[in-house]
Amino acid sequence: MTQKLYIETVGCQMNMLDSELVVAALRRQGYELVDSAKRADTILFNTCSVREHAEEKIYSALGRLKHAKRHNPDKVIGVLGCMAQNHQKIVFQRAPYVDLVVGPGQLHQVPQLIEDVRAGRGPQLEVSLERQAGSRDSVADSFESYDPLRSPEMRPSPYQAFVRIQIGCDKFCTYCIVPKVRGPEQGRRPEEIYAEARQLADEGCREITLLGQTVNSYSYRDDRGTTRLADLLYQLSDIAGLDRLKFVTNYPRDMTDDLLDAVSSLPKVSHYLHVPAQSGSDAILRRMKRGYTVDQYREMMARIREAIPDAAVTSDFIVGFCGETDADFAATVELVEACRFKNSFIFKYSERPGTKGAERLADDVPEEVKRRRNNELLAVQNAICQEDNEARIGVQVEVLVEGVSKSAAKREDDAPQVQLTGRDHWDRIVVFQGGRRLIGRFVPVTIYDANAHTLFGEVVTDHVGPEVYSLSV
Ligand code: SAH
Ligand code: SF4
Ligand code: F3S
Repeated sequence: MTQKLYIETVGCQMNMLDSELVVAALRRQGYELVDSAKRADTILFNTCSVREHAEEKIYSALGRLKHAKRHNPDKVIGVLGCMAQNHQKIVFQRAPYVDLVVGPGQLHQVPQLIEDVRAGRGPQLEVSLERQAGSRDSVADSFESYDPLRSPEMRPSPYQAFVRIQIGCDKFCTYCIVPKVRGPEQGRRPEEIYAEARQLADEGCREITLLGQTVNSYSYRDDRGTTRLADLLYQLSDIAGLDRLKFVTNYPRDMTDDLLDAVSSLPKVSHYLHVPAQSGSDAILRRMKRGYTVDQYREMMARIREAIPDAAVTSDFIVGFCGETDADFAATVELVEACRFKNSFIFKYSERPGTKGAERLADDVPEEVKRRRNNELLAVQNAICQEDNEARIGVQVEVLVEGVSKSAAKREDDAPQVQLTGRDHWDRIVVFQGGRRLIGRFVPVTIYDANAHTLFGEVVTDHVGPEVYSLSV
């Protein structure tokens, strides 16, 4: 009988990629993916530790499985990813019916570990070394990058894929758990990256997003010299069939001119840069150990604007970090207004045990102040989003069509024209009516309306480009 697998994923793109790869490995062993935990024999959670809320969400989901497991002890329940690495045995203490706990550096072992559980070998724990547990090399070796062969049917869309170019992080921002749970920063071999991108393109993938926690710090040294992110972009641009390249997440200090030149001169690279600022106050940035001042961030923005005048830049901010005053927060608002980000992801500071922030700094901004600042900054950013999106009305853009929009997918109508969704060269979401055959293609769309987060358009049919003759639009 085929085993039925259910997986729930939280966290960043790195986790989405890891889940895709774990599912692919298990499907190769005959597992069938189902969309409810109830129907599954194996239930996996791929977890995140970046904020407390992400962890609590998983413990509540585990709590809801307690009864199911009692009635059906053969169900295998697994906790994978960052919280597995962070909490290790604590997961078994808080949810004793969990069968396996597997860190992000050990995912290649998941199929075998499930078999071990089924063979009656008891709960399985596989995690990487703690950062202080040995030499840098031995800790790094214990975090294995998980990059098995890809198969297009495992991805949400066969036309888009993530490709890992780097694992881990060495920046140690004082609030952040990632260096602990993802281990030392390690660049992947350029030849491997190229081969994976090439294979993806051969299988019909048109867009690749390169992933790394500090993707622009990517560096790989061998006897032929050092390869940086800019070099990778030039190399990958040669791949026929691959038409769009993106990369996340950037670290402000490593936003070098050669990288900006590559983005500006390579037509396949999106004019979209995610470069989190985190705060607009020097005192806070210092306490966060981000390694730059507000002036340096602004200077970097000026260089981006000069090299790529139409660049869409997005940011992350943490509000209510230790000791953040009204004046610090006002400086953050000022930075958002000055930079006019395409979007900002805003988070309330969540103290993470095991970080320098938790050890040395008091989490002293009251929750309601955090909430108020979060809402205020969100409102400032949303107003910018709305204005900038409205300025796109009347413009024609090339959209890579990703699929049927969420609301249309829910209705499941099989009309010839459905609401489609995709993204333009600046990573803006564009929604428009069209035939399903447009999915996976680049389509010219004229924007006629906009809200803060979506552009609404219609397909240009008067001068159809070479891509689009045979369309049912
Ligand atoms: N590697 C990326 C981001 C990693 S986590 C980078 O360096 O930018 C994604 C975002 O979560 C961060 O940019 C930060 O804004 C937020 N974040 C990280 N730790 C947090 C914490 N303890 N509390 C609240 N937000 C946090
Ligand atoms: Fe965390 Fe800082 Fe590394 Fe980003 S750069 S993952 S915020 S430690
Ligand atoms: Fe979360 Fe791990 Fe990503 S902590 S943000 S899933 S690297």
